Amino acid sequence: MDTALKTPQLETSQQWRKEKPLVLGIESTCDETGFALVRGGELLVDRTATSMDEYARYGGIIPEIASRAHLESFLPTLESALTEAHVRLEEIDAIAVAAGPGLIGSLTVGICGAKALAQTLGKPIYGVNHVLGHLAVDELVDGPMPEQFIGLVVSGGHSNLLHVRDLATDVVELGGTLDDAAGEAFDKVGRLLGLPYPGGPHVDKLSQAGNVEAIKFPRGLASARDKNKYRYDFSFSGLKTAVSRYVSAHEKQGEPFSPEDVCAGFSEAVNDSLTAKAVQACLDLECSTIVVGGGYSANSRLRSLIEERAQAKGLTVRMPPLRFCTDNGAQIAAIGSTLVRAGVRPSESDFAPDSQMSLTVPVM
Ligand code: KG4
Ligand code: ZN
Repeated sequence: MDTALKTPQLETSQQWRKEKPLVLGIESTCDETGFALVRGGELLVDRTATSMDEYARYGGIIPEIASRAHLESFLPTLESALTEAHVRLEEIDAIAVAAGPGLIGSLTVGICGAKALAQTLGKPIYGVNHVLGHLAVDELVDGPMPEQFIGLVVSGGHSNLLHVRDLATDVVELGGTLDDAAGEAFDKVGRLLGLPYPGGPHVDKLSQAGNVEAIKFPRGLASARDKNKYRYDFSFSGLKTAVSRYVSAHEKQGEPFSPEDVCAGFSEAVNDSLTAKAVQACLDLECSTIVVGGGYSANSRLRSLIEERAQAKGLTVRMPPLRFCTDNGAQIAAIGSTLVRAGVRPSESDFAPDSQMSLTVPVM
């Protein structure tokens, strides 16, 4: 809690406030090129192109390939979104583009395209935080956001707990991972077991066929001292090492083992930590809702365990459907619309991408 950062005071003005703005959202933080249109809290269209298939043979994303793919997909994906929604570019009230966190080359392509559109059309532009978009997208599905909530953002790059009173102006970071993110740990365990990239969904699938009780892997930061000092933080690297040791010891001795059981035990350890701390944060800060977002929120065990634990404490969980878990344009349009409705001033036209953008900063 000592390190909690509060959102910097953002300038708001009636000039930018609009009840139901039509916002074009542009996502290009990693391998997805996404375009979406949102009017107020209503999604009109969401279109995504991805270059993910190109990385299977490399075992990871190649930033140069991702940047080029964004350039190739930018105009066709934009055109297809506008056509499907029967919207002309001139009708748009504001453009929101992901300014970070993400791959610098990928972000640059999206931002350059967005700036060219904004300049040509004479529209305001918002360089927004893509991680906060993972939470904002929930409004498009479940309606207006609660007055305050705990945000659990879990992806390939993040595992964070946030206390949110207003996504546009008041976000406090409670804690995060000290080492690997949840999705990253799943991808590493996937690689260890020889599964295709990205390993997360494959490990998830195998875990569903395994016995959770068969192998008990350690929980990070679970000692009484750590529970106090790192109340809202996570650590998955010790767990990943334990999995690696288990697999190599069996391989060395020629002993067969069940990859399904390994995945089940590993998945249980990750999800035990994530869900226990999210519920704890809710109770500590007197919030009644947890909003989950990010690519990892597609994980089947996370989805069932958080529902189970929240229900036991009388808490509500809001989780986007699977199509809004991985990066998409809808989340960017959603956070953009939130900012416009709050009257937040647009970004200056010379804003730059920030690959490490702080989670307490909603807009550049
Ligand atoms: O949010 P996202 O699309 O991109 C980042 O901003 O990181 O998240 C992608 C991450 C990858 O690590 C991927 O393996 C993981 O989310 N992921 C999963 C599942 N689906 C995606 N991890 C575990 N179980 C899943 N079902
Ligand atoms: Zn993401």
